[in-house]
Amino acid sequence: METAVIDLAYLASAVLFIFGLKRMQSPVTARSGNALASGGMFVAVVATLFLYDILSWPMMIAGVVLGGGIGVWLARTVEMTSMPELVAVFNGFGGLASALVAGAELGQYVEGSAIDQDPFTGVIALTVGLSILIGTVTFSGSIVANGKLSGWLSGNPTSFPGMRVVTVVLLGGAIAAIAFLILQATGAAAGSLFPSPADPVVYAAAGLAAAALLLGVFLVIPIGGADMPVVVALLNSYSGLAASATGFVLDNTALIVSGTLVGAAGLILTVIMCDAMNRSLANVMLGGFGGDGATGGPDIPEGKTVNETSPDDTAILLSYAERVIIVPGYGLAVAQAQHELREVADLLEEQGIEVKFAIHPVAGRMPGHMNVLLAEANVSYDKLYEMDEVNSEFPSTDVALVVGANDVVNPAAREDEGSPIYGMPILNVDEAQTTIVIKRSLSPGYSGVPNNLFYRDGTKMLFSDAKEAIAGIADEIKTLQEA
Ligand code: TAP
Repeated sequence: METAVIDLAYLASAVLFIFGLKRMQSPVTARSGNALASGGMFVAVVATLFLYDILSWPMMIAGVVLGGGIGVWLARTVEMTSMPELVAVFNGFGGLASALVAGAELGQYVEGSAIDQDPFTGVIALTVGLSILIGTVTFSGSIVANGKLSGWLSGNPTSFPGMRVVTVVLLGGAIAAIAFLILQATGAAAGSLFPSPADPVVYAAAGLAAAALLLGVFLVIPIGGADMPVVVALLNSYSGLAASATGFVLDNTALIVSGTLVGAAGLILTVIMCDAMNRSLANVMLGGFGGDGATGGPDIPEGKTVNETSPDDTAILLSYAERVIIVPGYGLAVAQAQHELREVADLLEEQGIEVKFAIHPVAGRMPGHMNVLLAEANVSYDKLYEMDEVNSEFPSTDVALVVGANDVVNPAAREDEGSPIYGMPILNVDEAQTTIVIKRSLSPGYSGVPNNLFYRDGTKMLFSDAKEAIAGIADEIKTLQEA
């Protein structure tokens, strides 16, 4: 195919990516944004298949069918709660693919069969080096992140004496290897395509990949499980940068543009998540915060017991309320209780009660987790309120119904300066007249920090799986309405 047509196709795909991202700003348009961006990727893949005569058509079609098939299978079978683990794997393989393509391109230079037979310049050496470094760090870091999230690695911060020094030495070695590649490229005799002998370059690239592999592990393993979603967002950004570097190696516009978009979007997401937890990125990367058994934080009031309630009593309380705010959290996703919750909201609204859903930016385990969950149950978007919009309304709210949320409603973040989560903005459910918390036990949330909201006078605990509890509440409201 004509190069000009392929360039046009790449331009079209870049435009589709940008408009796709733009539409993801709002849940209302996000679905079509996703479709647009997927369309852009399809156009880019098809155009690339025409670009290089690398593999036979049957091989390429087999790759598309196999890759597409695995993608469809994963999209259909993976639970929403396991999405961060899946995204970690996607990032990891994205990084690995970029590193492998850059390595393969280097191999073609060694053999003298590189595309277009361009000389191996300093810029190519730099971008090959960056692609191998960032891509491989992304790969090993993402595999560790996946392990911590899915539980096959301990979620606790893990380190050994001198680990920071080893990490710095590895980083120094990686930078030295890239500098060596550049020196070899720029020192090559004029007119030659590749430095001769080739062996030192190949060894430097292999050493770089080995150092990067360890670096990825050592960068992520000391970070606690509670911060893994932030790490996954950061690695997502890295995978984009690696792809972009590979785009420069291959002189492929679509890869440069899409890689840069992923790099920037991942970084913005990382910053948003850090802001929502009132933590700096450096604190996340170095802090060793949270893990499987992390504890600490506020003291549970001595001798205090909790006020327990039942679905029936909760239904009565809700039925006599004028204003109700529902606060969903990770437990709602685990219980898959979103449909029952919407039914309760509908029943209350039929009675003229004002019902709002308050969404904390890091509720659940991934950005937008609660929005997706509630959208699945057809909760109208105009009932969803962001933390800053709704927080001032709790004092004039009769019932705050907390469903499987814990850290995002922990008053220690506001009141206890010694708490690891101090400063994290929270939903002030404790300011409502009555706060009902639905969860199965008194165990802490993801951060491992105990929550003294459960022991406050205005709080009633409904110990149950969220689905069972909310179905019970819905049944009782219906009975009350019929009576
Ligand atoms: P968490 O603090 O993790 O609390 C969830 C609660 O749900 C648990 O305490 C658990 O208590 C309860 N639960 C689990 N299964 C349940 C079920 N079947 N029925 C009822 N309750 C159930 O959740 P959150 O308040 O949504 O906060 C999110 C946490 O993740 C924060 O620490 C946040 O910083 C962290 N995080 C999130 C993100 C993003 S982007 N969302 C990113 C980084 C970090 P029981 O076991 O007692 O039932």
